[in-house]
Amino acid sequence: MPGKRVIIALFTCVFLLAGSAYAQKESGGQGEDRGKALFEGKCSDCHALSRPLNKTKDRDGWTATVTRMQKVNGCRITDAEAVEIVNYLVKVRGPK
Ligand code: HEC
Repeated sequence: MPGKRVIIALFTCVFLLAGSAYAQKESGGQGEDRGKALFEGKCSDCHALSRPLNKTKDRDGWTATVTRMQKVNGCRITDAEAVEIVNYLVKVRGPK
């Protein structure tokens, strides 16, 4: 029965399309939103956000700063959150 095969093929296509659209939604943009939200939530405790936002640093520079905030100054973030904040800062305040 060729008709049945066509229907199965169609269903497979629909599932694959739905799956890839979902995967894109999961990865695209969401990471950045999380980094931004973490930055705005955690980095405004002790000083204005303009303090980091007035600077431009490369990834090493931001990693050093965020690590210092975390380990020396007492910013309460996990290592994973630090990475997300660094990713966000490199994106918005990285080298041109
Ligand atoms: C617990 C308090 C506290 C929190 C939370 C905090 N900071 Fe700071 N930050 C400080 C203090 C104190 C200084 C001044 C001394 C220094 O530079 O270490 C400072 C200075 C800075 C500077 C200027 C010095 C430099 O290296 O350019 C930047 C940029 C900065 N913070 C970014 C951040 C970022 C990004 C976050 C969030 C991950 C953050 N801070 C969270 C306390 C904090």
